[in-house]
Amino acid sequence: MNYNKKTVKDVDVAGKKVLLRCDFNVPLAKDGSGVITDDKRIRAALPTIQYLLDQGAAVIACSHLGKPEPSFDKWVKKQTEKGKDPATLTKEKWEKSLEALCMEPVAKRLSELLGKPVTLAGDINVVNADVEAKAAALKPGEIMLLQNTRFNKGETKNDPEFAKKLAGLADIYVSDAFGAVHRAHASTAGVAAYLPAVSGFLIQKELEVIGGALAAPKRPLVAILGGAKVSSKIGVINNLLEIADTIIIGGGMAYTFAKAQGGQVGDSLLESDWLDYANDMVKKAADKGVKFLLPVDTVAADAFAPDANAQVVPAGAIPDGWQGLDIGPETVKAYCDAVAGAGTVIWNGPMGVFEFEKFAVGTKAVAEALSNTDAITIIGGGDSAAAVQQLGYADKMTHISTGGGASLEFMEGKELPGVACLLDK
Ligand code: 3PG
Repeated sequence: MNYNKKTVKDVDVAGKKVLLRCDFNVPLAKDGSGVITDDKRIRAALPTIQYLLDQGAAVIACSHLGKPEPSFDKWVKKQTEKGKDPATLTKEKWEKSLEALCMEPVAKRLSELLGKPVTLAGDINVVNADVEAKAAALKPGEIMLLQNTRFNKGETKNDPEFAKKLAGLADIYVSDAFGAVHRAHASTAGVAAYLPAVSGFLIQKELEVIGGALAAPKRPLVAILGGAKVSSKIGVINNLLEIADTIIIGGGMAYTFAKAQGGQVGDSLLESDWLDYANDMVKKAADKGVKFLLPVDTVAADAFAPDANAQVVPAGAIPDGWQGLDIGPETVKAYCDAVAGAGTVIWNGPMGVFEFEKFAVGTKAVAEALSNTDAITIIGGGDSAAAVQQLGYADKMTHISTGGGASLEFMEGKELPGVACLLDK
């Protein structure tokens, strides 16, 4: 995939209407109050928005929020599959589920951060006559926000009719929604067929840093892969085996590797279907001359609980009734040594159950090692980004990706539809 894409700086946006796709998929308070519990994604879009406004563009911003179901019948089907009694599934409840994902809180926060009004327009169709009129009347330096793009049934289907409606509002399409570039939806990819399409600064940075590390890394390239399941990291392991000098395995998936190598893993997380795959990966790494580091010791707990009793045991000797919840001290040392000598480190997935302080030691030590190295340090979105932030090392990293699924698919080497659709430089 070509990562060298035109950006907002390569087009003249002055006096133009710009359709700007952001990833404003922010977490909302569970009580339905509409309070945004973390506005990082809105802040991340500000440099591009401010640039466009300063250049005299009129900005029509849009984003999805959550996973609304725009068809009542499909909503009923999904809720029933989740075990809800169909008799209780009224139209009123469905409408409430959509209301909870309206863009009002985003418009309000964006307006506060920009210090200027942000007009919210649109309904279940997202683009209607009122939106078209408001977009046409929008002046240079002004901004409006469309309703949740996933309210329109055509969004996730990448329906050309909806893409054309969106494109009809503007002269240029700018995407800065890195978190959604792995989705081939109407507002993330389809629309680019009808307008000149360029990236904002956020996507530009993600492409430069992650794309650069994958294409021409400063070596040695050390990839640290953790998280609960081998099955969710297969694509990344496969791809990085072709690129990395060292692969480090931690987190819940390490127990599948330990078991595959004949170890005892007690009650630890285990994916029995992936034992052969785990062995294949170890062999493939050896054949390719890639160092493949697995835990040598484990912090085992007698329950999955923050206050469980814990003991350090060899990685392949976890007693029955015990489960591995973190990497042990010998492993921490080996992993930190590997990081210390790296030119580039890519980290995706925590080393243990870092949400429990007692079992956050391994993840914390790796984060600290990354903060102390001169290497380029890249943190995949999702859990690893949350861990680095929660443990207080965020500002010490070269780059923390804003995309969870998107950064994973990027590291898997997959083509990202929301990037592929942008104009090449
Ligand atoms: C994310 O939160 O990772 C992005 O906004 C994409 O959201 P999605 O998984 O609902 O497509």
